[in-house]
Amino acid sequence: MNLADKFIHEHKLNREEYIGLLQQFERENAGTNTKSTLANYLAGEAVRLRRKIYGTDVYVRGLIEFTNICKNDCYYCGIRKSNPHIERYRLTKEEILFCCENGYDLGYRTFVLQGGEDGYYTDERLADIVRTIHSAYPDCAITLSVGERSYESYRLLREAGADRYLLRHETANPEHYQMLHPAVLSHENRMQCLQNLRSLGYQVGAGFMVGSPYQTTAHLAEDLVFLQEFRPEMVGIGPFIPHHDTQFADHPAGSVKLTLFLLSVIRIMLPHVLLPATTALGTMDPLGREKGMLAGANVVMPNLSPVKNRKQYELYDNKICTGEEAAECRGCLAHRMNSVGYQLVSDRGDCKS
Ligand code: 5AD
Ligand code: FES
Repeated sequence: MNLADKFIHEHKLNREEYIGLLQQFERENAGTNTKSTLANYLAGEAVRLRRKIYGTDVYVRGLIEFTNICKNDCYYCGIRKSNPHIERYRLTKEEILFCCENGYDLGYRTFVLQGGEDGYYTDERLADIVRTIHSAYPDCAITLSVGERSYESYRLLREAGADRYLLRHETANPEHYQMLHPAVLSHENRMQCLQNLRSLGYQVGAGFMVGSPYQTTAHLAEDLVFLQEFRPEMVGIGPFIPHHDTQFADHPAGSVKLTLFLLSVIRIMLPHVLLPATTALGTMDPLGREKGMLAGANVVMPNLSPVKNRKQYELYDNKICTGEEAAECRGCLAHRMNSVGYQLVSDRGDCKS
């Protein structure tokens, strides 16, 4: 049996086999105008699985970027602490609640609180915000995406009402991890955080950037093996996009085609996974999120942050949805999803497993 059929049949491969699958994809994409038959083949199976489990429903997550202040210095990230060229902001509790109120009226039933690792948000302050949202919107899921914190902190936040946590592993290879992050950050702690979140009963999201600097095919294979073993409920992947104020400013962006291929692979590996077509994918290709659905994604994360702050949360250059015209991303995405035969639903959108 060839690798693709083996993968479709067994929903898993080993590291060497993933390398083989990725190399086959690369060979088919080497010519400029060649359409990858492997990518089409896997996308067909990915969409079949996705439709069997989730139909044509697309879950929406209202993304509230509530602080761009960060104590870390990840080499790829535009809001890293040593970037002096951005104006820093923090939303007040009232502003965050206003985003939720607006979002609830628009039909959102999941709120994602995402931010830099900002020391202002102590466990007490953040738990208070989570508790307030939880009691005001008991029918909504609360997702946190605020980086590495202690077990005790994750425990308090879970107790306050947080259901899900997004913490991309960024790369499963420790040496590669160190090429993307300063020495104070470790791959080991990242993995420990993911384990802690899992043991506290969060629905956990992992993920990585496609085409991050120094990433090899072997690294990607290791990312896939990690996902296969850890089995997160959510997986966030998007192309790396350089930010002009980082040391990776001159590195090339990741490939849209490879991102789409990996979305299909991840759907086949974890058929029930919640898999967003990310804003980064939409930034690299005007139809990136639509193409993401056609590759097996089933989630979108429209921006619900106050329009006045959106430009300040630029993790990478040219991020979409940051202008006045993007005040209502939900309507925009509803049209976009309809155009490819899917529809947004007003639902918590939990993992059906
Ligand atoms: N390009 C693409 N994605 C990025 N992220 C951070 N910086 C960039 C960039 N330059 C991703 C990281 C992080 C998530 C919130 O955004 O993977 O985990
Ligand atoms: Fe934000 Fe289209 S999704 S403007």
